[in-house]
Amino acid sequence: MLRFGLKLRLIWSHMSKACHRIAASAAEQSSIEVERETGATRDFSQRGTNDRIEWRADALATMKTALAIYPGSFDPVTNGHLDLIERGTKIFDRLVVAVLRNSEKDPMFTTAERVEMLREATKQWENVEVDVFDGLLVQYARQRKAQVILRGIRAISDYEYELQMALMNRKLEPHIETVFMMPAEAYSYLSSRLVREISNLGGTISGLVPPTVEARLKSKSQK
Ligand SMILES: Nc1ncnc2c1ncn2[C@@H]1O[C@H](COP(=O)(O)OP(=O)(O)OP(=O)(O)O)[C@@H](O)[C@H]1O
Ligand SMILES: [Mg+2]
Repeated sequence: MLRFGLKLRLIWSHMSKACHRIAASAAEQSSIEVERETGATRDFSQRGTNDRIEWRADALATMKTALAIYPGSFDPVTNGHLDLIERGTKIFDRLVVAVLRNSEKDPMFTTAERVEMLREATKQWENVEVDVFDGLLVQYARQRKAQVILRGIRAISDYEYELQMALMNRKLEPHIETVFMMPAEAYSYLSSRLVREISNLGGTISGLVPPTVEARLKSKSQK
């Protein structure tokens, strides 16, 4: 009886090892197939350094340079916009801040002034370019060969409008993705409109806009 029990346990242990081997090899096979089909990132934690170097070379060979467009009226640029631009520079290879020409009938700053302020405020980031566009955003993005439209979400109130715009842009151009980013909490209430209003009413705007913009706002408001 004791011998029979021992034999049974030995058979069981052989069977379970064999099953594990079959399952492991099937899992490896299927994960390789998934990788082949999807180009998914492989888990190299169990493999050698050479594998990792090989994978990196593979990935770099197929990696696209991501160009994102950050559109807006920037009338004027605020520290909230700059917070978003800085975040964008870390994710995308190139970021084009695109000023919408004639976005409002009566903007506070001319397009040239808005571009000038943006260039001054973003000169520290080498991968940022400031440009002007009019007409359809997706047309401009297509022309620039951009893959991404970057937009900021401050609060739920932004969400509805931004969602509508993003879905409409996707309908017009399915190859361009809209990416939303959130600013630091300190800027989540900040908008160009508020800055213009405060400045017109003689309030202080320091800390809300770059110093050069603050000076320009003061001189505009005194006129
Ligand atoms: N403080 C901020 N934090 C994050 N995103 C922002 C901030 N201000 C603006 N954005 C985003 O930047 C993009 C361009 O916005 P826009 O030029 O209209 O600025 P705005 O501050 O909303 O100006 P306005 O008040 O004149 O509409 C939008 O996606 C907007 O949501
Ligand atoms: Mg706005």
